Amino acid sequence: MKKKLVVLSGAGVSAESGVATFRDAGGLWEGHNVMEVASPEGFRKNPELVLDFYNKRRRQLFEVSPNKAHTTIAGMEDTFDVTVITQNVDDLHERAGSTKVLHLHGELVKARCTQCETAVIDWKGDITIGTLHPKTGKQLRPHIVWFGEAVPAITQAMEIVKQADCLIVIGTSLQVYPAAGLVDYVKPDTPIYYIDPNPAQIPKLCNPLEVIAMKGSVGMEVVKKKMLLK
Ligand code: OAD
Repeated sequence: MKKKLVVLSGAGVSAESGVATFRDAGGLWEGHNVMEVASPEGFRKNPELVLDFYNKRRRQLFEVSPNKAHTTIAGMEDTFDVTVITQNVDDLHERAGSTKVLHLHGELVKARCTQCETAVIDWKGDITIGTLHPKTGKQLRPHIVWFGEAVPAITQAMEIVKQADCLIVIGTSLQVYPAAGLVDYVKPDTPIYYIDPNPAQIPKLCNPLEVIAMKGSVGMEVVKKKMLLK
């Protein structure tokens, strides 16, 4: 039976594809007040601004491609039973070939009804005021988990992490909860690799932990080699 490898990814895994992270210099939040563009209150106050913010992100998604970090993670399915838990709203893990991807914070290529959060549909175009859900007839919004909203996939993510034989944490500042708290759910002897060129928040756990202070593409190659040798 293949060993269970769980990858917890954040914005940094997509950085080499040209997608800005959130908290680095020049990151997405630098030019924005987070609560204005990524909260239900912000959406109520200025829906045009919020829709425009995510329309830009969605349009950019079609101009970028998966990078070596994404493809190495996908390629590890040959040897391991890999599940990716991502905080990212892009679809670059899927486009790289990963078959089991759980999105904690939603997906740019989906939209949902503003009145019924389970009415989720595939969506590739812009959303503007007046773009209605084809079935409910109500205003659409991006299928994104905003600050202050519940993270429905977190329970499933905890169960996946509990089963892990190895955890790779890649490209996340581990500052946003509940996602950052997932590392606490690994079994005590599960090895953890943390790949980040600027690893600010190193998990405080008794597990075997190796910090790989490199970009995702190189770091994933290093971790892959180490894991194949074990
Ligand atoms: P952050 O922007 O907080 O952190 C990105 C991390 O990626 C940092 O630790 C960087 O050092 C690292 N990084 C930068 N370039 C990298 C590279 N080439 N390879 C690997 N790592 C690199 O992004 P997240 O931790 O993903 O939520 O942020 C978590 C959540 O906060 C996001 O999902 C988003 C945001 O607010 C919502 O919008 C709900």
